[in-house]
Amino acid sequence: MVINIDFEDLLSKKDLKKVDEEIQELIERERKFFEELKTANEIFDKRTLMNLFNLLVGKHLTEYIGVINSGKEAVVIKARKGKFYRAVKVYRVATCDFKTMSKYIQGDPRFHLKKSSRRAIIHAWVEKEFRNLKRASEIINAPKARVRRENILVMDFVGYRGEPAPRLKDVNVDWNKFYKEIKDSMIKLYNEGEMVHGDLSEYNILVKNDEPVIIDFSQSVVIQHPLAEPLLIRDCINIANFFSKKGINTNYKSLYKEITGRDINPVDEAMVKCL
Ligand SMILES: Nc1ncnc2c1ncn2[C@@H]1O[C@H](COP(=O)(O)OP(=O)(O)OP(=O)(O)O)[C@@H](O)[C@H]1O
Ligand SMILES: [Mg+2]
Repeated sequence: MVINIDFEDLLSKKDLKKVDEEIQELIERERKFFEELKTANEIFDKRTLMNLFNLLVGKHLTEYIGVINSGKEAVVIKARKGKFYRAVKVYRVATCDFKTMSKYIQGDPRFHLKKSSRRAIIHAWVEKEFRNLKRASEIINAPKARVRRENILVMDFVGYRGEPAPRLKDVNVDWNKFYKEIKDSMIKLYNEGEMVHGDLSEYNILVKNDEPVIIDFSQSVVIQHPLAEPLLIRDCINIANFFSKKGINTNYKSLYKEITGRDINPVDEAMVKCL
């Protein structure tokens, strides 16, 4: 059945002109940003550019401002929605390590991957990161997930007046207080959220208002996942090592025990090397 919609019936000529003007205005305003992407050699495929643009048309975002971080797998862009800043994480379809991604998705009982094209895996990856972030931000200090569109994830911006918050590795803080707070977040995430961050370190913890904010839940898994325990042990090793160097009396075994109430299983510990 073919449905013919006459948009001129739905919208008056005046409305149509207004929509057209709004889109032209958007294109003009964003032209500079997309030009900047090109000169900075940020190559996005056409579909990603269309999705970025559609987020503006759909009024999920008002404008893109600039690149915050450009990594191998993803680019993080600063954007604005009204008077609020947003962080937009865009996965590079061409260079993502989709074999590792697929390993993490497959053990997650929330996902059943039918198709396994590179694109389908990356979309499922973003869907997983979106849900992880949603769950985490309800119980610990982490940015709220807002919208996802294929390989793009929009979340709250962590920073001060548009300046991104620094990483824990680059600042000096009250190490005792931060260790305690990060440990509490790990305990809550595991016991209330029933999840493991999976890539926790001083690189994925930002500092805002003298409080830790945990980011990058891309590798997070639910505790039923076969890799959950080795990932938790690795998180404990990273955090205990970092804070030991800052003079805190800790080690990964005691941290693990405080989180789970159990001692580390040697088989799980041996698996850390295979991650
Ligand atoms: N919500 C946010 N608000 C402000 N800055 C952010 C936000 N999310 C990410 N960033 C910045 O972008 C960087 C990369 O983000 P993230 O860790 O999620 O991606 P990644 O794929 O691990 O990148 P990389 O491999 O470069 O670490 C962060 O270290 C941080 O500086
Ligand atoms: Mg990271």
